[in-house]
Amino acid sequence: MVGIGPGNRLDRTRRAEQVIADSQVVAGYHLYLEHIADLTAGKELIASGMMQETERCRAALQRATRGAVVALVSSGDPGVYGMAGLALEMAAAEGFDVPIEIVPGISAANSAAARLGAPLMLDYACISLSDLLVPWESIRTRLVALAGADLVVALYNPRSKKRVRQLEEAVAIMLTHRNESTPVGIVTAIGEADERIELTTLGNLLTAEVGMRSTVIIGNSTSLHLGERMITPRGYQL
Ligand SMILES: C[S@@+](CC[C@H](N)C(=O)[O-])C[C@H]1O[C@@H](n2cnc3c(N)ncnc32)[C@H](O)[C@@H]1O
Repeated sequence: MVGIGPGNRLDRTRRAEQVIADSQVVAGYHLYLEHIADLTAGKELIASGMMQETERCRAALQRATRGAVVALVSSGDPGVYGMAGLALEMAAAEGFDVPIEIVPGISAANSAAARLGAPLMLDYACISLSDLLVPWESIRTRLVALAGADLVVALYNPRSKKRVRQLEEAVAIMLTHRNESTPVGIVTAIGEADERIELTTLGNLLTAEVGMRSTVIIGNSTSLHLGERMITPRGYQL
């Protein structure tokens, strides 16, 4: 299970590159395979679509069981809304007796934070607004708790063309505890040619351009915009 970071080769770890180089088979969502095309010449590729995680994972485990060294790639970190948990669960449930190594990568929250400045300097939480695998009621309950706990929040899977209500509800929940002027940063397509960085506020978040390739960071009560940057001061006296 290999995390390849947000998309640009400069954001990959050497370990990730080495593991992919040492593998005979590389499996992943076809867009992620494009991101690592420089590493996969001559290798067998198992490419599949976004909604085919289970099949992709099973194909990778089957191939490994038959003796191949397989790299199953995730964007960012494989253990953050990625494939690592699924692979470990599936290996146990379906009896795939193969060694599984998890190779970490830079997750979107961290690469987005770096583009914005330093918004994650204090306690923060990641939450995915996708309710495909987790019931919306559970996500809503967590959002209410996060809002009240004054944590900085990194939203993954914030909005898609079909799924807009979740971000609207998340903003409404945050506004029950935070001011409209709370700083928000949106980073889209990190590491790719069309990367976009936008600073806005909680009150204006719903009018901003946010999609499935965006990570949204909502500040806490002390976060601020400093020129073109967003930071959450750690508390140093200057
Ligand atoms: C299924 S999650 C995968 C997260 C990934 N495993 C990670 O650790 O970053 C997909 C979500 O991650 C975020 N994401 C992944 N790659 C991104 C990128 N290049 N730029 C901005 N956000 C990204 C977006 O919120 C997207 O909807």
